[in-house]
Order: sequence, then C-alpha cells, then structure tokens
Amino acid sequence: MEHAEPQRVSIVLQVNGEQVCAEVEPRLLLTDFLRHDVGLTGTNVGCEHGVCGACTVLLDGDPIRACLMFAVQADGHHIQTVESLAGADGALHPLQVAFNECHALQCGFCTPGILMSLVGDMKDLDPLDEAAVRERLSGNLCRCTGYQHIVDAVMQVASDSEEVE
Ligand code: FES
Ligand code: FES
Repeated sequence: MEHAEPQRVSIVLQVNGEQVCAEVEPRLLLTDFLRHDVGLTGTNVGCEHGVCGACTVLLDGDPIRACLMFAVQADGHHIQTVESLAGADGALHPLQVAFNECHALQCGFCTPGILMSLVGDMKDLDPLDEAAVRERLSGNLCRCTGYQHIVDAVMQVASDSEEVE
C-alpha cells in the first residue's frame, strides 16, 4: 500500500534577526524546527509538555514555551533563541556574564530557558527585587542550583545597571 506524502506548509519567520523560509509538516513542534531544521540546538527539550521551561524562547519579545507551539504558528513572527544573546563579536550578554560570575548554573540544561525567561521578562520587573525574580523563575525548573545563585546573578545585573544610570 502506498503512503501519501505528508502535507507540508510554507512558513516565513525571523529567527534571531534572520529570515527563515521553510516547508514544514503542520505537526512539527517549534522546538524541533529550531533544533533540527534551523540548527539552533541551544533551545533544550525537557518535559515536552509545558512544565519545565527548558524550551523557552521569545516570540515577538515575550517568553513562550516552544514545545507548546507548532512551527506553523510562528509563521510571520520573530523568534529569539539563546543564541541571540551574545553579540556578533561573541561578547556575552550581561546576564550570561553574571550567571558565570555567580555560579548560577551547574549542568546547564535549564540555563538557556531560564536566560530567555529572564531576558524576556526583565523589562517588566518593576520593582526588580528578589521576590519578583523568584516569581519569574517559578516557570522554569532547575534540579541543580537551588535557584539562589540565579537570583544573585539577576540582582547583580540590576545593581550594575543602576550604577551605570
Ligand atoms: S520542554 Fe517545553 S516546557 Fe519542558
Ligand atoms: S543547572 Fe542543572 S538543571 Fe539547572
């Protein structure tokens, strides 16, 4: 018996500022599209049902779970992954520097998702205090750090930017 070719849909989106055109099956998850079709493996896949936050990316500037979206739903939108955080010269984002300095990661599996959750949400954290940071982190699971060093890293970035102002 012959199998019908799977239906494919054309999509055009921005990924980290670059236009990406692709033909995808409607069932393809955004996580799999980013990792396997676009080759951006910084976005991790943990639970695949919206609980752990490891797959967090920005959709038009706001953090979303890429495992809960189909690639076709990103058509016409702008996706940012953890690969977008460092500058073109390789200079790390201030949050990445602070994670490094404050020992805010151990195995690192949760880190891309946590960084993208924080980057997407920091603009809305007012006042930026530990309680607000912990609230924002509540959607991302980390098995290793106990979260304190992650909170310390965010507070370090906050205090560095206050000094600059
Ligand atoms: S892999 Fe998406 S929330 Fe866990
Ligand atoms: S650093 Fe290992 S899960 Fe967070």
